[in-house]
Amino acid sequence: MSRKIFIDASLGRKTPYTPIWLMRQAGRYLSEYMEVRNRAGSFLDLCHSPELSAEVTLQPVDILGVDAAILFSDILVVPNEMGMELEFIKGVGPKFPKPLTSDRDLENLDMSASEKLGYVYKTIEIVRNRLADDKALIGFSGSPWTLATYMIEGQGSKTYARIKKILYSDPAYLHALLEKLTIVITQYLEKQILSGVDAVQIFDSWASALEKETFFEFSWRYMVKISESLKEKYPNIPIILFPKGVGSYLDGIYGNFDVFGVDWGTPIELAKEKLGDRYILQGNLEPTRLYSKEAIKSGVTHIIETMQNRRHIFNLGHGMLPDLDRENAKYLVNLVREMSSRY
Ligand code: CP3
Repeated sequence: MSRKIFIDASLGRKTPYTPIWLMRQAGRYLSEYMEVRNRAGSFLDLCHSPELSAEVTLQPVDILGVDAAILFSDILVVPNEMGMELEFIKGVGPKFPKPLTSDRDLENLDMSASEKLGYVYKTIEIVRNRLADDKALIGFSGSPWTLATYMIEGQGSKTYARIKKILYSDPAYLHALLEKLTIVITQYLEKQILSGVDAVQIFDSWASALEKETFFEFSWRYMVKISESLKEKYPNIPIILFPKGVGSYLDGIYGNFDVFGVDWGTPIELAKEKLGDRYILQGNLEPTRLYSKEAIKSGVTHIIETMQNRRHIFNLGHGMLPDLDRENAKYLVNLVREMSSRY
């Protein structure tokens, strides 16, 4: 047993209640976050300041009472440190003004990126010192596929036309990029573990852009490769894989990892049926339910009742939205704790 309920649940041990944390739990819906971001200057300045990143990492633990903190940073600092200029444009989101196009661009990527992310490791050390013993700290990375999508598209995309054109016309190029990302991400997550995170999550936000066959070839395979290298060295660090939008591909989900993140589009009972014997499930309340207490209550009841005899970590089925009401988020955390402790 660990003192951390989140870790016990992630490793399949029985817990007195279902632990809960929320993807994107640090962010704009908290005025305290806005205050620190303004103090930092910009979002990227905030990511580059260990002291301020640590402060916003801890805010949701203090304010909402969640069972785990997630390191405050962004998945895109990795391609940024591989040499790609990165901008966060108000109202548009992240942008790489010079996306990858040529073989030359691929060769020029800096493979020592994990050594340049010292500000992230420093944040982890500060949080570790300040976080209560019974709360876990989760580190993270984007998946190779999701990072590659940003690096080739330059920004979020509706059709993913550029990367998919390469996927079908020059798959060797894409595999070479994914291999490079797999190496850098493995090193990055290992350094996060050595700096003090208790668990890691890999976000594959753009998994849904792929059909079944290409998902397994261009995304899942690389996520599992990272997980297997880490599990070999750090068997007690739980690994959470979160591929978003692959609810109809669950039959192909295998590999050495601990927790499968269920997105809100996948019925929790389906995930339970297909994966519940092999993995701990995390999820999957539809985030916009947080707009209404009634919607929270009915959603939580369904999830807790479905998962009552299974190992489970409560979360949203994707991230918090910027205009959600913090009082409803607190209500959610308390409700999950209260309902799940009855089983
Ligand atoms: O979860 C947390 O609280 C930890 C911090 C975190 C952020 N981004 C902070 C952030 C994490 C884990 C991420 C991951 C991330 N970043 C993902 C994967 C998760 C997902 O949501 O699918 C992705 C795709 C990104 C890329 C990214 N960064 C986008 C698309 C945006 C803009 C989103 C928006 O809502 O405008 C960001 C910026 C970002 N990352 C913000 C935060 C709090 C908002 C920046 C701000 O303060 O204006």
